[in-house]
Amino acid sequence: MFPLAVMLTYMNGLLSVVNGDMEQIEIQTTCEAETEAWGYTLAAHMPRGGLIALYGDLGAGKTCFVRGMVKYLSPEAWVNSPTFTLINRYGEHPAFYHVDLYRIGSAQELFDVGWEDILMELESASREGSPPVFAAVEWAEKAEGLLPEERLEVHLRASLSPVRFLRLVNRGVPLAAPLSSLSCRANSEERR
Ligand SMILES: Nc1ncnc2c1ncn2[C@@H]1O[C@H](COP(=O)(O)OP(=O)(O)OP(=O)(O)O)[C@@H](O)[C@H]1O
Ligand SMILES: [Mg+2]
Repeated sequence: MFPLAVMLTYMNGLLSVVNGDMEQIEIQTTCEAETEAWGYTLAAHMPRGGLIALYGDLGAGKTCFVRGMVKYLSPEAWVNSPTFTLINRYGEHPAFYHVDLYRIGSAQELFDVGWEDILMELESASREGSPPVFAAVEWAEKAEGLLPEERLEVHLRASLSPVRFLRLVNRGVPLAAPLSSLSCRANSEERR
């Protein structure tokens, strides 16, 4: 049994759970474009200074999701997986950090590549009047304990078919709309 504070709804194939400050939904995508479109949609609803932490095996679709975010935040940029560079920074206003921690072996290495500076930049971006900055982190489990408490998590799971299972967990991020109210949009979100 769930405690009373937990609300669970299942509508239009979307499972949504709200538990205090945490909301989560489960969705399926059937192609790369749909996963990208969810990235685009989430980017359009993130507050400045927001961080999206991505989890999932090799080829689960993390970079694909991030590509969608970049389409919204920095449409002129071209995204590849920053596996060798670890960190890519796109655009200026807003600035967007795409971080891939696959090759990170220790917390020390994480600090050596400038993790703290990114967190500080995000923190200051969340203040009124500061330039907008956003971030997405692939293999976020490598920064366990070093991620902001307020974050949006995307857990991706591949299957044999092109279907991908995505669990979106909002840990206290003041999104422009609740997760359960979102439907994925490829291009039509108005730029904020
Ligand atoms: N529904 C889907 N959503 C996303 N990608 C899909 C989907 N169906 C098939 N794919 C394929 O799965 C692959 C996902 O690759 P992607 O680089 O996004 O994964 P990744 O999780 O970033 O992997 P890595 O850990 O290596 O960085 C692509 O080749 C893409 O074409
Ligand atoms: Mg990737």
